[in-house]
Amino acid sequence: MDHSALVLPEELLIVGAAVEAGIFDALREGALPRERLQDVLGADRRALDAVVDALAALGYLQEREGRVAITSQAWKAFFDENHPSYLGFSFMHAYTRLQTWLRLPEILRTGKAPSKERSPERLQYFLQAMRHNARKIAPDVVALCLEGMPSPPDVLDVGGGPLNYATVFAGYGARVTVLDTPEVVSYMQRCVPPGAAIRLVAGDFTRELPEGPYHLAFLGNITHIYGPDENQSLFQRLARVLDPGGRVAVLDVVHGLSPRAPFMRVNMLVSSRGGGTWTLEQYTTWLNNAGFGAPRVHHIHLRQLLLAEKA
Ligand SMILES: C[S@@+](CC[C@H](N)C(=O)[O-])C[C@H]1O[C@@H](n2cnc3c(N)ncnc32)[C@H](O)[C@@H]1O
Repeated sequence: MDHSALVLPEELLIVGAAVEAGIFDALREGALPRERLQDVLGADRRALDAVVDALAALGYLQEREGRVAITSQAWKAFFDENHPSYLGFSFMHAYTRLQTWLRLPEILRTGKAPSKERSPERLQYFLQAMRHNARKIAPDVVALCLEGMPSPPDVLDVGGGPLNYATVFAGYGARVTVLDTPEVVSYMQRCVPPGAAIRLVAGDFTRELPEGPYHLAFLGNITHIYGPDENQSLFQRLARVLDPGGRVAVLDVVHGLSPRAPFMRVNMLVSSRGGGTWTLEQYTTWLNNAGFGAPRVHHIHLRQLLLAEKA
């Protein structure tokens, strides 16, 4: 229990509101006097003063010679992609999810997640959050996935549209087919690095997979989105597009192995129809039923990487 966590997440709420209201965008080009900032945002002055002062107290803004500016710390976090403290606006994914989490009492009664619409802005926040989560672990994950693989390997990255893993696979010389939803594929097409052997395919992996054969199928953080039946069918479909001896790699939060699992489970309760977190025994059964051997488990930053070969 952490009693100190039982408080309003004030920083997330204030910074999130400032991003949504366009405060950081307005100041990105340079410092502005409060009156000018008020005009640009079409803001109420009393409200703007309260939020700007709070952002200054939190270290995101500073005021010099009557002008409000972004602090260098906030600049590095939001805009400097090469800085170790870079976040972009990945935290806005958490901010937008607050609305759904606040409906948990109702979901406890109905068991049904509210239907969600994803605006282009929310899609960008989601993609940034995926990028942030993958940034530190992708090199280790990819190296483990490719251990002992033929060179160059043919890789199917299932639900890999954010491209965080595909670009690392491609960096190893892999030919990568990335399957994702039409929405994500059309947004990410322009982000494929020039010359990278990455092919984006729009589709629904609960229905069909791009024709193989592949040496490796990578499933990064997708098995928690779906229920046991969909996951079982997915592994069966994967066995049909993998080479004999081909490998499946599942990166996810495994129930009973990751301390994050109970919270991810509630997250999927509020945001998906049948998603959750699944035990190693469940993964092993789905894999075995589909003709794969027992998975080897690697622990990577609160997540598990399960590797199994097709018998
Ligand atoms: C949680 S993200 C994980 C992204 C990436 N694999 C990673 O680990 O960073 C899940 C991805 O799967 C995609 N996805 C979910 N359901 C899908 C489906 N039925 N068919 C294709 N893509 C799907 C989403 O659009 C999203 O890009």
